[in-house]
Amino acid sequence: MIQRQKGCNDIYGREAKVWKYIDTVIDAMMEKYNYNYIRTPIFEATELFHRGVGETTDIVTKESYDFEDKGGRKITLRPEGTAGVVRSFIENKMYGDPNQPVKVYYNGTMYRYERPQSGRDRELTQFGMEILGSDDPLTDAEIISAAVNVFKMLGLKEIKVNLNSLGDNESRDNYRKALVDYFKPHINELCEDCVERLEKNPLRILDCKVDAENEVLKNAPKTLDYLTEESRDRFEKVQEYLEIMQIDYTINPNIVRGLDYYNHTVFEIEAKVEGFGSNNVLGGGGRYNGLVNQLDGPETPCVGFASGIGRLVKALELEEVKVPIVEDIDLFIMYVNEEEKKYAAYLTQELRLAGFIVDTEYTGRSLKGQFKQADRLNAKYICVLNSEDLDNNEVKIKNNKTKEEEVISLDALIYYLDEKLTTEVEDDECDCGCGHHHEHGECEHGECKCSHHHEEKGE
Ligand code: HAM
Repeated sequence: MIQRQKGCNDIYGREAKVWKYIDTVIDAMMEKYNYNYIRTPIFEATELFHRGVGETTDIVTKESYDFEDKGGRKITLRPEGTAGVVRSFIENKMYGDPNQPVKVYYNGTMYRYERPQSGRDRELTQFGMEILGSDDPLTDAEIISAAVNVFKMLGLKEIKVNLNSLGDNESRDNYRKALVDYFKPHINELCEDCVERLEKNPLRILDCKVDAENEVLKNAPKTLDYLTEESRDRFEKVQEYLEIMQIDYTINPNIVRGLDYYNHTVFEIEAKVEGFGSNNVLGGGGRYNGLVNQLDGPETPCVGFASGIGRLVKALELEEVKVPIVEDIDLFIMYVNEEEKKYAAYLTQELRLAGFIVDTEYTGRSLKGQFKQADRLNAKYICVLNSEDLDNNEVKIKNNKTKEEEVISLDALIYYLDEKLTTEVEDDECDCGCGHHHEHGECEHGECKCSHHHEEKGE
């Protein structure tokens, strides 16, 4: 049997519905922040990532899926979304659009040849957002607030924003020197890769996965002590805006990020829920003012963020967040003979186009088997087609919960179902007036069980 590749996942059944739900929350929140959806290719020229993400980063040196295509071009499956967005920004001359800054978001698969483990996949799905064309600290705060609000809208509570600043080029140079001076006497205590990193890119030592628990790393100099006055002021502004927006954060000087393009603000958002394991960073991002220029575009200050959807699914599960997914259908249509089956084909089509969730029998089950199937599908209503009724232009519709049955004229069927299914929603509604959750039966007897919604209403 051919099996799926290591570090790849099949998402199906209920889990696939949760993924779809997350997508709708992302789309809704991004619309509120006025970000436009962007799709860039899954593969790009290898050079883009080498020059963009950094020659000495793990995702380029160890984890990239590189291949040569039939035309001899050097291709890489994208390990992240920012480099592709920046290439597109330059290639499509978006910097020339008077509507600046350009605010975009994406949601797609990325590829990293990592050692597969919980929370670390080789094929992963990221949603991300980028603001290109503004150096205003308000945009740093906006990106963080948008990320946090997506998580909150999903119903996650146990999250923590870790914030740091790498400063401008001068700050980074000062810091680099301090790191080299600090690590040199400890060179024998570092892993082989880190010895090489000391020469090429000492900052990368700080996010080494092998040396993560090494005391030498833990006691290394901190970025914030090397910020220029200007960078420090800028960092304070970001914090001020976050406070105005009431976004909780913690300054964490250990956040340096694993990609080379960052300067000034860097941040990661962690899931604090128990049982997550070590890969509990839901997302991360920061400012990357030099990248557009480095990829041959005009000087353009940018900031962005990305999050792994798989980790969000896990966080929702561990926090036991009730996800409002539809797990029932409106009507299951049953039949016995070929004539009734043809009518079933007609009726399913009519009712689906009228907006109902309708299913029917496809595997030759007996009537008894069809009743069981209707229950498996959580059908709210069932309809057993019968030639005699059809001759009279009628059908029998049964409420699958109360088992009450009514004979309905075919001409009135859509109105009947419409009224029945809408009335049920109203019957379930509680005082909080949101309408949304009740469809999924989460509110009972006027008391909303989902604290999530009340928080949104400030109650
Ligand atoms: P990153 O920290 O490399 O940043 O990835 C962002 C998020 O993607 C991680 O926090 C994690 O949730 C998820 N992720 C990364 N690798 C894996 C993996 N192997 N398996 C599962 N999930 C994973 C970036 O990619 C930057 N492009 C973010 C950014 C956007 N910076 C500025 N703009």
